Amino acid sequence: MENIILTGDRPTGRLHLGHFVGSLKRRVELQNKNDYKELIILIADAQALTDNSGNPQKVRDNVIEVMLDYLAVGLDPKKVTFCIQSEIRALPELTAYYMNLVTLPRVLRNPTVKSEVKLRGFGNNEESGVPIGFVNYPISQAADITAFKANLVPVGDDQEPMIEQTREIVRSFNRIYNTDVLVECKSVLPDNEICNRLPGTDGNAKMSKSLGNCIYLSDDENTIKKKVNSMASFPRAIEEPGVIEGNVIFTYLRAFATNEHFEKYYPEYKNLDELEMAYKKGGLGDGRIKKFLNDVLQEVIKPIRQRRIEFSKNIPYILEILKEGSKKANALADKTLDEVKNAMGIDYFANDKFSNEQIKKYSD
Ligand code: TRP
Repeated sequence: MENIILTGDRPTGRLHLGHFVGSLKRRVELQNKNDYKELIILIADAQALTDNSGNPQKVRDNVIEVMLDYLAVGLDPKKVTFCIQSEIRALPELTAYYMNLVTLPRVLRNPTVKSEVKLRGFGNNEESGVPIGFVNYPISQAADITAFKANLVPVGDDQEPMIEQTREIVRSFNRIYNTDVLVECKSVLPDNEICNRLPGTDGNAKMSKSLGNCIYLSDDENTIKKKVNSMASFPRAIEEPGVIEGNVIFTYLRAFATNEHFEKYYPEYKNLDELEMAYKKGGLGDGRIKKFLNDVLQEVIKPIRQRRIEFSKNIPYILEILKEGSKKANALADKTLDEVKNAMGIDYFANDKFSNEQIKKYSD
């Protein structure tokens, strides 16, 4: 079977190192493997609006910011179809039909939605409660995925409940309407825990814009340095043994430091295992380790930042990519919508079937 790969992001801010290790790197790998018929990246503006209804300008402004990050990490518009969710008119219509296949208790059980509702602090009354559109977003995400008949969806494991929900919708739809129009998908997850959930610079939680603990792919040299220096470390006398577990500096080194980095910036040690052993023995201060981490992160981010600056000088080019990509995606999704309506028997004027059937019924 030919793979159709689809993934997306909400345009609510620039992308950061958590996005980089958690999904962007993987996308570039998939792109370069060339084992697909379509690789589609959706900028999910409509989904971003489900909890930003009062702030459309934020969503609008971040469409290009996110595109700049995509291009800067090496995603190639010749290989990837980039599109804007709200430009694809079939999506809300598919969502509307799928909504009838999912019960309210099933939607409310979604653990990711539950924790997001908590995190955003929605209230319980009619004014402050969670918007219907927000609890519904897994169903609209099922429309995103099925509209393109995607079989592979690269995401972090927090999105697994959405993929499961999508599969349930596909099965219900195909069973109820006795069809095979919709395609079952599976997730492609990051291959290790650190990549799946890179902690923020405060070491406490996942890197996330709302927690203000991010290093952005667009951060300048000084900002990166400051953020690395402000990373949490456990106070101790230098000769005392250091602790690796829960030490965010070492978590970052695990995610980013290569043996080449050691050779270049910390030749006293061959690799991270050796450094960790020395650190655990004692005698190694956090200052030196942070300096190394800073060297590593500067080397990772610098080419990305530079490419980002170059691309930002040619916004018309980026707009053209998005416009063309959205047009293409719109046509693909329209085709699926036609098939869906046909399977449901509500494609009244797509052919003569309905007309003939009704004329015959009343002429007998
Ligand atoms: N919910 C995803 C996120 O918050 C973004 C998204 C929207 C998505 N539509 C998608 C991801 C379709 C994968 C497939 O990151």
